[in-house]
Amino acid sequence: MVTELGSLTAALAALPTGSSEAEFVDAAAAVRQRVPAEVVGAFDAVAGRLLAEVRLRSRLADRHRELLLRLTELDQELDSSRERQAVLGERSRIAQDLHDRAAQTNFLVVLKLDWVLARMPAESPLRPELERLKELAGEAAAQTREAIYALRAPEMVHGGVVGGIRSVVRSLKADGIEGSLSVAGMPVPLPQPVEEALFKLAQEAVNNARKHSRGSAVMVTLRYAPSAVTLVVQDNGVGLPPGAEHGVPGHFGLTGMQERVGALGGNLALLAGDEGGLIVRATLPIGKE
Ligand SMILES: Nc1ncnc2c1ncn2[C@@H]1O[C@H](COP(=O)(O)OP(=O)(O)OP(=O)(O)O)[C@@H](O)[C@H]1O
Ligand SMILES: [Mg+2]
Repeated sequence: MVTELGSLTAALAALPTGSSEAEFVDAAAAVRQRVPAEVVGAFDAVAGRLLAEVRLRSRLADRHRELLLRLTELDQELDSSRERQAVLGERSRIAQDLHDRAAQTNFLVVLKLDWVLARMPAESPLRPELERLKELAGEAAAQTREAIYALRAPEMVHGGVVGGIRSVVRSLKADGIEGSLSVAGMPVPLPQPVEEALFKLAQEAVNNARKHSRGSAVMVTLRYAPSAVTLVVQDNGVGLPPGAEHGVPGHFGLTGMQERVGALGGNLALLAGDEGGLIVRATLPIGKE
């Protein structure tokens, strides 16, 4: 019995547990030939367990390889998105610089020329030259504006409006109001006037909720549809006082919103929430068929 146990131990020790499943099966079959008949049952039981371990280890190794591969891919994606972010940041800085410097200078040149022309005798021989100069300055201003717009890549435009609204929503926290922003639908680059209007509308509606609602939460949703974008700002406060939807003398927020939305061919609704509070819903067409 002792020698049989000794040969069983030796046989088990000879099994290549670190190898692949197929190698292990072949080796186990070969070793099994030399195992005394009395302990072959014990050998099979232990070899079976070892085989299960070999399988598990090989599955884990496969998974490890897959994860490593995915990690490498993610690393590459991160690198390229960092690069992209850097390029977008640079473009945005150039656009800002053009806006703050070149566009302002152009504007001043036109103003100065206007000033000179207004004081110049009608018959002065320099007049046509100066008028032409003013025209050129106007063209330069338009070209600068185009360059600024072109530099703002679609991602920036999108990041811009969502980012802007997000910062307005975040500012609620300072007043102890819970703010949330969710973006629904398929975000697309928006025409600049629409983007600007969305930001201003969100700002006014959120500020109104902060100043007047006496609620504890404001929920903002920006929903993209193929031909329109809808902004909803909902609070859980006291709701609009009767008649305020037609504007309150000396207060311009709500009328300003109406005008802004109207100018873009959109629609503004001021609705009472099911459980109180005010819902401001602005829908703006985005000029796509
Ligand atoms: N979310 C709100 N909850 C309750 N009342 C509101 C809300 N938003 C507006 N109101 C009421 O409607 C009135 C008109 O709002 P509007 O934005 O036009 O003016 P305002 O905020 O008072 O002043 P401003 O001209 O600075 O915007 C407010 O004075 C307030 O009484
Ligand atoms: Mg207001």
